[in-house]
Amino acid sequence: MPFTPDSQLDLLFPAEYISNEVKSQLHEDLHIRPLASTDYKRGHLDILKVLTVVTDPGEDAWISQFNAFKAASNTYYSIVIVDKQTDRIVAVGTVFIERKFLRGLGSVGHIEDIAVDKNQQGKKLGLRIIQALTGISENSGCYKTILNCSDHNIPFYQKCGYEKKENEMAKYA
Ligand code: ACO
Repeated sequence: MPFTPDSQLDLLFPAEYISNEVKSQLHEDLHIRPLASTDYKRGHLDILKVLTVVTDPGEDAWISQFNAFKAASNTYYSIVIVDKQTDRIVAVGTVFIERKFLRGLGSVGHIEDIAVDKNQQGKKLGLRIIQALTGISENSGCYKTILNCSDHNIPFYQKCGYEKKENEMAKYA
């Protein structure tokens, strides 16, 4: 499939929200941009399988979820890195902006669902995704950006400038 430029896509949010510095540090065969309404076809769910169990809801349900993300304005920022040779997604990540009553009606950015194609790991794509999402969070006015991860991934997030703080609690339904 030929590479599809941003101008021909229905993007989740304006591409300008992604830092030009991060864009310029990517290999010329790669492109970083917001999630697009047609990314189901570019293997979005296949990349998430690198991270956890993914049940394919089908394309129509996937598009409904995309539209729900988009309708919640200034809240969901999902980004992808696309291989221009194949027009397939090779890395994904999201920052979710939580609005609060404390800290002068402050906001917190929650980084979620970071995954890089197994064949592309170790090439700084994860780092670029985190840098781009952290920039979006900070430009949204968030006073902090946080995430949960396994012990195994702590060194990766430390390389991205994050530090260990407190504990995660979970209760699965
Ligand atoms: N242990 C130690 N160092 C690591 C690790 C690790 N597990 N992973 C990456 N690093 C280091 C790299 O060596 C590199 O260091 P350098 O700057 O000294 O060369 C630096 O961190 C940046 O690494 P990247 O090349 O950007 O890492 P990559 O592109 O492989 O992405 C990621 C890392 C996202 C963890 C990827 O390996 C992956 O998709 N793993 C499987 C899914 C996963 O665990 N996702 C994270 C879940 S947590 C969450 O979503 C909030």
